[in-house]
Amino acid sequence: MALQYQVTPLTAEQAKAASGWTYGPGCGLYDFTAADLPPMRAPRYRYHAVCDAEALAGIACFGEAAQVQGGPYRRPALDVGCSMAPARVGAGQGRSFVAAVVDFAIATYAPILLRLSVAEGNHRAIRVFEATGFITIGRFAGIARGGIHRFLLMTRVG
Ligand SMILES: CC(C)(COP(=O)(O)OP(=O)(O)OC[C@H]1O[C@@H](n2cnc3c(N)ncnc32)[C@H](O)[C@@H]1OP(=O)(O)O)[C@@H](O)C(=O)NCCC(=O)NCCS
Repeated sequence: MALQYQVTPLTAEQAKAASGWTYGPGCGLYDFTAADLPPMRAPRYRYHAVCDAEALAGIACFGEAAQVQGGPYRRPALDVGCSMAPARVGAGQGRSFVAAVVDFAIATYAPILLRLSVAEGNHRAIRVFEATGFITIGRFAGIARGGIHRFLLMTRVG
């Protein structure tokens, strides 16, 4: 059954929890560290908590924080980043989780276009993003976590 999520500004306690999230071998690009804590706490990066009735299920960010250095972001769009808590990944809740983030983004920021930058090899996330209405519009090499990686640029209308 699809869970219901609430999206609210990230608190200090939630940021501290999320800054310790790691996703296992091969997923280092998406791991968080203590170095992510200051941006998570900075209002300009628009980090949010995504919670279900039980607890913190993931986090999302909007705008600059969701962009990858070197990406082709000339076209106006709202960049979206989302990360489910590692313990919840792979449980079949990806679509409802991403849909909740997208619904919140549309209701809050009224973007004409939503955009995601996702690692080319992150097939699981790409599948979920396609299922929530995103299509691939390009590919690029960008800098993330100190290395150069290949990314897909995906968009959907707001
Ligand atoms: C992206 C994310 C929210 C998706 O949530 P999830 O819990 O992994 O997703 P689900 O388990 O609901 O679904 C995964 C889908 O990918 C499929 N999948 C799993 N492994 C796959 C693989 N190696 N190749 C292709 N598809 C795969 C599953 O079958 C499922 O598709 P289906 O619903 O059509 O059967 C979550 O993985 C996440 O936050 N990951 C860490 C951070 C991240 O990748 N963020 C995105 C950066 S932009």
